[in-house]
Amino acid sequence: MSAEVKPESVSLGPLGPAGAPGPEPLCVLGTGDLGRSLGQRLLRAGYRVVYGSRRPGSCGPLPEGAQVMSHAAAAQAARLVFVCIHRENYAFLEALAPELKGKVLVDVSNNLKKNLHPEANAEYLQRLVPGAHVVKAFNTLSAWTLQTGPSDANRQVHLCGDSAEAKDAVADVAAKLGFGAVDRGAVSAARELEDVPLQLFPQWRLPLRLAAGLTAFFFLYLLLRDVVSKYTSEGKDVSFRIMVSLANKVFPIVSLIMLSLCYLPGVMAAFLQLHRGTKYKRFPEWLDRWMLCRKQLGLLALGFASLHVLYTLIIPIRYYVRFRLSAITVSEIRENRTAAFDTTMAWRTDSYYAVGILGFGLYLLLGITSLPSVSNALSWREFSFIQSKLGFLTLLLCTFHTYLYGWDKFLRASSYRWYTPPGYMLCLLPPSAVLALKLLLLLPCVDRSLARIRQGRERARPREDAEKALLT
Ligand SMILES: Cc1cc2nc3c(=O)[nH]c(=O)nc-3n(C[C@H](O)[C@H](O)[C@H](O)COP(=O)(O)OP(=O)(O)OC[C@H]3O[C@@H](n4cnc5c(N)ncnc54)[C@H](O)[C@@H]3O)c2cc1C
Ligand SMILES: NC(=O)c1ccc[n+]([C@@H]2O[C@H](COP(=O)([O-])OP(=O)(O)OC[C@H]3O[C@@H](n4cnc5c(N)ncnc54)[C@H](OP(=O)(O)O)[C@@H]3O)[C@@H](O)[C@H]2O)c1
Ligand code: HEM
Repeated sequence: MSAEVKPESVSLGPLGPAGAPGPEPLCVLGTGDLGRSLGQRLLRAGYRVVYGSRRPGSCGPLPEGAQVMSHAAAAQAARLVFVCIHRENYAFLEALAPELKGKVLVDVSNNLKKNLHPEANAEYLQRLVPGAHVVKAFNTLSAWTLQTGPSDANRQVHLCGDSAEAKDAVADVAAKLGFGAVDRGAVSAARELEDVPLQLFPQWRLPLRLAAGLTAFFFLYLLLRDVVSKYTSEGKDVSFRIMVSLANKVFPIVSLIMLSLCYLPGVMAAFLQLHRGTKYKRFPEWLDRWMLCRKQLGLLALGFASLHVLYTLIIPIRYYVRFRLSAITVSEIRENRTAAFDTTMAWRTDSYYAVGILGFGLYLLLGITSLPSVSNALSWREFSFIQSKLGFLTLLLCTFHTYLYGWDKFLRASSYRWYTPPGYMLCLLPPSAVLALKLLLLLPCVDRSLARIRQGRERARPREDAEKALLT
């Protein structure tokens, strides 16, 4: 123990609102980053703030107008106490049980890893101070957010606890600080709240893994097929193609597959509903998860398509392309011949460019409407029209663009080098399957049944009905 003399109460700065009779004080235990930011915000919102510190006389700079005291004195001074201390240092709170009896204790703590401790921090705190009403709150906000004020993404304070009055008291403070409160239930939900700050883009994980897997697979596939095979069979080194040509194949291929994977679960869900004859049965877990990450799948797919467009823009300025063009021109001059204008080729190239541009335009529209500020301004019907109807049109245009690009190459034996199909032929399989299944769903008889099911009607199931009748 240091011989330092600890004053019972230290006032910081001129006697401001903390000293004056007025709103009841709130206590903040711990003068670290979060304690300071929270105290500053509470003061700005008009509260009186008393800090409880191990070293009231020598703690770091604190917001002007706050008071700093020993833990016990600060805890006694307020009915609502924020514990801005790491869980590992909670043990001393057990001795403060008498001062904290009947008080609202706000646990803001987080952990460095999931499942680090057998019980949630808030439950541990409740065990240490059984007489207090522990509320888990504010842990999903950073000290920075508290200091700068609520932003769009962090407008909410999630809270949980066993006492409704205690939660109301904390929600009231959160509202005065400019945050909306979201009640997440009893203190047993604390672990879930404590895991929130540890998550890193949870809904992006699957789409990102899928994108990485597809990119790696097609890169290797095309590397072997287009570069290595050329070297082994013709002795030609075309490794320079990796940088632009290969990339400009891999990116659109991955984009098209991921785009079709956005629309496949909706089609599968429709067939499942048709099969079950009801929409009131839950989808299997994997289908639910897939449906929930369609936005992320779509946005990643858009990213890959944008890369394809950028790579396409530089095709005319590539050294390889310019060299090939001038070589052809020189050889035509030398041989005194002129290549005839190929109308079919002109139609083919213009068509696939045009369809690609239209597809990309709609792709961008899907991306724009997925921005919260835009989607909030649309009705559900408008959003669904763009995402679902125009989404399928995007898939159709992008697939058609690729078919047009392939043109007659599907029938040429030389396209199947090493007996393998080119990447764009492989990538046409998923979108073609999705579009064919969607076409089936659009058949009037199927569409009518599906619409009825989605309006809430249930198909009679003779066996189940008979079983029910037997039971009653
Ligand atoms: C660039 C881009 C951005 C995207 N942004 C988003 C986005 O912000 N948000 C998003 O959700 N998706 C987004 N997506 C993914 C995709 O566009 C949408 O999920 C789209 O709505 C899927 O359409 P769908 O017709 O396949 O399915 P849905 O629109 O889900 O459903 C088709 C039909 O099924 C019905 N239905 C769906 N689920 C159920 C159910 N459980 N019970 C009963 N009926 C049901 C619907 O009412 C609808 O009539 C994006 C895609 C891309 C490419
Ligand atoms: N920083 C953030 O952005 C953030 C966001 C959400 C949640 N949180 C949570 O908020 C809590 C505090 O985080 P922080 O970033 O403010 O940490 P910090 O800067 O390290 O501050 C912690 C404070 O705890 C007190 N303390 C340290 N050791 C102690 C001990 N042995 N006994 C009693 N008190 C002790 C100290 O205050 P005194 O010297 O005054 O006693 C110290 O300043 C943590 O549980 C954290 O998980 C932080
Ligand atoms: C501005 C819009 C677009 C233009 C101008 C465009 C242009 C092109 C060009 C020039 C090629 C041939 C590339 C080459 O020879 O190496 C190509 C191929 C291709 N494009 Fe597009 N495209 C566009 C949008 C799209 C979109 C939105 C998709 C959908 C994902 C897409 C998917 C493909 C595919 C899969 C290929 C075949 C790649 C391969 O060679 O294996 N394109 N496109």
